[in-house]
Amino acid sequence: MELEPDPLFTGQFVLRPFRRRDVDALTGAVRASINELHEWLPWAHLGYGRIEAAHFVRESIKAWRETRAYDYCIRDRQEEESLHLGNVSIWFVSRGFRTGEIGYWVRSDQASRGIATQATARLAQIGFDQLRMHRIVLRIAVGNRASERVAEKLNFVREGILREELKVRGSWLDHTVYSMLDHEFDRQRQHIADLVAGEQPSIEGA
Ligand SMILES: CC(C)(COP(=O)(O)OP(=O)(O)OC[C@H]1O[C@@H](n2cnc3c(N)ncnc32)[C@H](O)[C@@H]1OP(=O)(O)O)[C@@H](O)C(=O)NCCC(=O)NCCS
Repeated sequence: MELEPDPLFTGQFVLRPFRRRDVDALTGAVRASINELHEWLPWAHLGYGRIEAAHFVRESIKAWRETRAYDYCIRDRQEEESLHLGNVSIWFVSRGFRTGEIGYWVRSDQASRGIATQATARLAQIGFDQLRMHRIVLRIAVGNRASERVAEKLNFVREGILREELKVRGSWLDHTVYSMLDHEFDRQRQHIADLVAGEQPSIEGA
């Protein structure tokens, strides 16, 4: 099962594959968020600029064509060509065992608007319903509360700690693995759909 490069919609946002002309908007979003990204993501070095963004967009288009990974840029539904709000991606970790992973970041001046929650919930739907994944994981650095909140709001299950998994800013960071299984997703369709729509479900886990 593969994905068509069609836009995906949430209540407030549109997720669409990268185009070559997104390089400047991506550079601007990363530069505007570099202090926060630098804290958690190994690629976000303080000198990140247009060369790195152009490389990312080139690789992203290639990875999509080769069905290795599906990167989406997040924009406002109302003003599609406006601010680059962040990235969300889904990829197979194991095709044989149908395990996938989702990763995300959001520009700092747009944080806490529910962007990561809506986008991740939409890609969870895509992972289970279209890519037929059996298991989807999120790996979150210990101490990254905002990202842990995203996992919690989606009702991903906290599995355990991967010790010293990634080196960021010269230090090894432990990561927590969160997962959702296909039969858990089936029981939570309404909850996830509410999150995609940008609604606050009354009971997390309902
Ligand atoms: C983590 C990140 C993606 C969250 O994006 P976002 O669009 O702000 O996420 P949402 O608005 O959907 O949800 C964030 C939640 O965290 C909460 N939050 C934000 N900062 C927080 C903090 N410092 N401590 C505790 N909670 C925090 C928000 O209040 C919200 O929870 P709520 O809805 O219960 O109020 C964004 O902060 C980011 O890109 N950070 C840097 C890069 C990164 O960490 N990427 C993820 C790697 S796993």
